[in-house]
Amino acid sequence: MRSLVVLLASAIGALAASIEDCPGYTASNVVEGSGTLMADLSLAGDACDVYGTDLPNLKLLVEYQTETRLHVKIYDAGLDVYQVQEQILPRPSSQNVSSSDAALQFSLVENPFSFSISRSNSGEVLFNTTGSQLVFESQYVYLRTQLPKNPNIYGLGEHSDSFRLPTSNYQRVLWNAESPFIPRDSNLYGSHPVYLDHRGEAGSHGVFLLNSNGMNINLNHTDSGDQSLEYNTIGGVLDFYFLAGPSPSDVSRQYAEVVGLPAMMSYWTFGFHQCKYGYWDVNYAAEVVSNYSAANIPLETLWGDIDYMDLRQDFTTDPERFPLHKMRELVETLHQRAQHYIMMLDPGIHRLANYSTFTRGEEKSAFLKADDGSDYRGVQWAGEVVWPDWIASNTQDWWTDEISLFFDPETGIDIDGAWNDMNEASNFCPNIDCDPAQQAKDGNNPPQPANPPRNNTGRPIPGFPDDFQPQSSAELSSRQTDSGQMKGLPGRDLFTPKYRINNHRGELSDATLYTNITNSDGTSQYDTHNLYGLTMITATRASLLARRPDRRPFVLTRSTFAGAGARAAHWFGDNNSTWSDYRVSIPQLLGFASVHQVPMVGSDVCGFNGVADEKMCARWALLGAFMPFYRNHAGDTAPPQEFYQWDLVATAARKAIDARYRLLDYVYTAMYRAATTGAPIVNPQFFLYPTDANTFGIDTQFFYGDALLVSPVVDDYAEAVTYYLPNDIFYDFWTLEQVRGKGGNVTASNVTWTDIPVHIRGGTILPLRAESANTTTLLRQKDFQVIVAPGVDGKATGSLYLDDGDSLDVGDEKSDISFSWDGTTFKADGTFEYATDVMVEKVVILGDEQTSREGPWSLNEPFEFALNK
Ligand code: GLC
Repeated sequence: MRSLVVLLASAIGALAASIEDCPGYTASNVVEGSGTLMADLSLAGDACDVYGTDLPNLKLLVEYQTETRLHVKIYDAGLDVYQVQEQILPRPSSQNVSSSDAALQFSLVENPFSFSISRSNSGEVLFNTTGSQLVFESQYVYLRTQLPKNPNIYGLGEHSDSFRLPTSNYQRVLWNAESPFIPRDSNLYGSHPVYLDHRGEAGSHGVFLLNSNGMNINLNHTDSGDQSLEYNTIGGVLDFYFLAGPSPSDVSRQYAEVVGLPAMMSYWTFGFHQCKYGYWDVNYAAEVVSNYSAANIPLETLWGDIDYMDLRQDFTTDPERFPLHKMRELVETLHQRAQHYIMMLDPGIHRLANYSTFTRGEEKSAFLKADDGSDYRGVQWAGEVVWPDWIASNTQDWWTDEISLFFDPETGIDIDGAWNDMNEASNFCPNIDCDPAQQAKDGNNPPQPANPPRNNTGRPIPGFPDDFQPQSSAELSSRQTDSGQMKGLPGRDLFTPKYRINNHRGELSDATLYTNITNSDGTSQYDTHNLYGLTMITATRASLLARRPDRRPFVLTRSTFAGAGARAAHWFGDNNSTWSDYRVSIPQLLGFASVHQVPMVGSDVCGFNGVADEKMCARWALLGAFMPFYRNHAGDTAPPQEFYQWDLVATAARKAIDARYRLLDYVYTAMYRAATTGAPIVNPQFFLYPTDANTFGIDTQFFYGDALLVSPVVDDYAEAVTYYLPNDIFYDFWTLEQVRGKGGNVTASNVTWTDIPVHIRGGTILPLRAESANTTTLLRQKDFQVIVAPGVDGKATGSLYLDDGDSLDVGDEKSDISFSWDGTTFKADGTFEYATDVMVEKVVILGDEQTSREGPWSLNEPFEFALNK
């Protein structure tokens, strides 16, 4: 740890000394059009060549894309520098609004070149590069912005640090990496180069840098308090999207306009999921399901980890432990019981001549190639593996065929979703001196292939055994990079660029795909590394859609990049069964769900590594129930931690799941809003109280949806919790008693091991199922109870979205019902196109005194009633 700090300090020290010598740029030929500005940038003096070669000629493009979105791009005039492929992350088109209609203004200083972004209405400067030179080199790009003192900055994930980022000597590293134990102050599995800057009364804005290269982002201030944020990337261009807000949730919505609205999730995916690495045979898996029933704890979905595979190979089942006919029986039984089944697919494809998934991929040139045209090899669970090149022209077809074949409902395993793991990508080859065949033999990949291929002596792989066909030169020609194609500058050191990012795994290529590997389109892993997971889930989603075109695909991914939420759900990886990781799941949730636009998220409940403690697991069962994705998962060496293992945890889980299921339509409605508007499914307190400075740093509480404030016990073994209640009316979710928040802390003592404080925010209306059920299928047949929680003005609003829960396109068959209470009249209005027999049995109006009105009312038409309270 100490050495890391020293390393970090010296890196920062070296950087500060050297980049000061750089000449910066001068802008010229400024051309302003309607809603655009273009200029040339030329190097303003002698090249400094600190971490590569200075690029003499750049271009600046400014587009007023919408009234609330400003696009600023600085790129090389020759268009050689890598730019994220449109195919991987499609860009929004510009509506070319006139700058006079825009909420943000761009100002240019020509010499020395700098720019700033400010709010049109207040003049508030949001981003300002004055005072430091732009550095744009072949392997290093540097840009610094000034920030106000003590700024409130959120995002820049994936990390396991506080939600509001430290601003003193703090560094975020973006380089996707397998990160067991989710270390603090480190790069983790995903990269999200977007931040939200909240300034209280002055509003919130967002800054997205669309750049997939490895980077260090430094947040620091001088002794006199001058605060800055610095981007230091090892490549790519400066492609910024500035999002005007002004409310925090406006920023979330505007970010979704850039990277895509989150994928709508099926109703059942909000049920409770159980998994473990180490359910070693199909009988064990079935037993877990039946134990849940016996314990009377609803289980929606069972998961199959790599245990099911034959020799850890995708698309195979172990013939003895998971014979196909038994697997088919298992899934059929689950489906009869209205339960679901999800299985894992890793990217590493076992390189074995008699493994048909591999040979079919070979035929389709689906795998990444070394420079000599042979398959690039690494090591993953199966042993020596090759890696899909997700952007190669035939890879999608190959993957779709494998998925359709193995998961054929008639002859294979009729899964309900797919789990993509290890897609950073994680390579058990520790570094570039690795011999994959040897590593596969020496490593602990259980169980080993019968005949691991031999004789690879180094990298790039020189020869290749006879039974593999070399690529024809025609196929290889696409690997040569043409200039002007934005595929990456030639002549770079793709392993150890001079500027080091502080990847906690070591060098860029350590424990991942080697960064010198060229993708089929001529780009290199050096530039696209952070996109590997995103491209895998894009392919998996498309394959699941091809298999079941009418139903919403469910993909769970470990690795993410900006835009992942439009394709998949995410869990926070291999955390620990510790109180600390229980707590940190809250800032992780807030980062993903409210800033990164990946709403369907949660942690491995009760922790993945280590031994789960009964009391901690009880608390986690309760907390996890208020996160969108709710799955108990443990590692192979961890003892079983299903909720039924302890009476106390079982009691906590029954209570948690009961509440979660009654609230399922409420959160499904929030999911629908997220998928259609980008409104966050989970809200940090300051999203709803943006002028209350006490809320800006809170990451031990959160709003599930926008109406339910969850304030879990956070301290180890504590039975009390002190939490913040803004100045507003709240109602205890469990007792429905009114609680007046005073903008201060409240201490709840005697919070038993089966309790979690939850409050309904005044001014909201919650649709709840009147009772819970064993599965979400049964839950959908239950009637509703509507809870009205009047705010300080005595009024409240809420909504309920209904559809069939699973169709990709529900057409008109959906109901979007808005509820309102004005103090005397309750109204249900809106659209009612989803025909249902389910009724509202009762409306309960909270307040000093609680009143209620019995229905039933149909949910196929508007209704209203007046009540004198
Ligand atoms: C990785 C995953 C974990 C999984 C294990 C075995 O560690 O993060 O969830 O159980 O691999 O597949």
